[in-house]
Amino acid sequence: MASKHGWIACVLFLVAAAAAKANAQLSEDYYDASCPAALLTIRAAVATAVLLNRRMGASLLRLHFHDCFVQGCDASVLLDDTDDGFTGEKGAGPNAGSLLGFEVIDRIKMLLELMCPRTVSCADILAVAARDSVVSLGGPSWTVLLGRRDATTASASLANSDLPGPTSNLNNLLSAFSKKGLSSTDMVALSGAHTIGRAQCKNYQDRIYNDTDIDGPFAASLRADCPQAAGGNDGSLAPLDVSSPDAFDNSYFSGLLYRQGLLHSDQALYDGGSTDELVKSYASDGDRFGCDFAAAMVNMGNISPLTGADGEIRVNCRAVN
Ligand code: HEM
Repeated sequence: MASKHGWIACVLFLVAAAAAKANAQLSEDYYDASCPAALLTIRAAVATAVLLNRRMGASLLRLHFHDCFVQGCDASVLLDDTDDGFTGEKGAGPNAGSLLGFEVIDRIKMLLELMCPRTVSCADILAVAARDSVVSLGGPSWTVLLGRRDATTASASLANSDLPGPTSNLNNLLSAFSKKGLSSTDMVALSGAHTIGRAQCKNYQDRIYNDTDIDGPFAASLRADCPQAAGGNDGSLAPLDVSSPDAFDNSYFSGLLYRQGLLHSDQALYDGGSTDELVKSYASDGDRFGCDFAAAMVNMGNISPLTGADGEIRVNCRAVN
């Protein structure tokens, strides 16, 4: 996709931009003294996980998104329900039977607790693992700002209301992202995350049988494994980017130009509306996409972090201390 040269220029620009407008409370060097091997440890664990299963890179990237859009980037998404009545976000509509990667985060947390107890937050692990996942699948890099703390609460109802769904139209998407302080450029660039990973039949079934803004042969090729009959094969998977589902490149956007967006919400970005031009430019200029994606990931990672005396550093990412 993008030239290494282009991404290096972009990384330099992003470092300068991050330094200039850094979220006052987060910093690049947060663990340099307290846990110097933290970033290396996360990178190695993510690289291993992705080597074993390339889809894991997609799953870890998505975890950070689903964390940040619900009460901010505070690892609320990782809390398990408990027997004494606490209900977390894992059972919410957009998450249940769909979010993956929790075991990888557990493994990283276990290593970090051995090295530097109660120091590295689960929220920061999610942010760094998302970046390292993108890099290990060939995508751009960026500097992750650090110092988030972990929530002692979670919200299933906010997970249901604030995470955009696969049937969203362009206005739904723009308003869901604007509610989090993210621009339409951030929204389109972040949607490029769908250049990797898979979706379940139930999330694109309606599109391949009923939408008109879809390439005919593409829809036909998906119908065999995703039958229309109620109770059909809801668990079968299709790649979100049909041409290269395990490579972080810009072909997701080229697919949209050919009406091969898998989700209704994907094709909504290129359907005659205000984001068409940006989609075209990302399809033709991988460097521009990589750079905007990196900047948008920093913006997403800055959504309402807990800092200072707020929250805690969880010992186990699945439970409050
Ligand atoms: C724009 C609004 C978005 C909608 C409506 C949306 C919706 C979805 C849906 C329905 C799936 C498939 C889930 C399943 O079938 O189990 C999915 C997968 C995925 N999403 Fe999104 N998403 C959006 C934005 C994002 C963003 C901002 C990111 C990350 C920055 C992201 C990253 C991913 C990834 C990587 C996958 C594949 C996960 C895997 O294979 O395990 N999505 N998304």
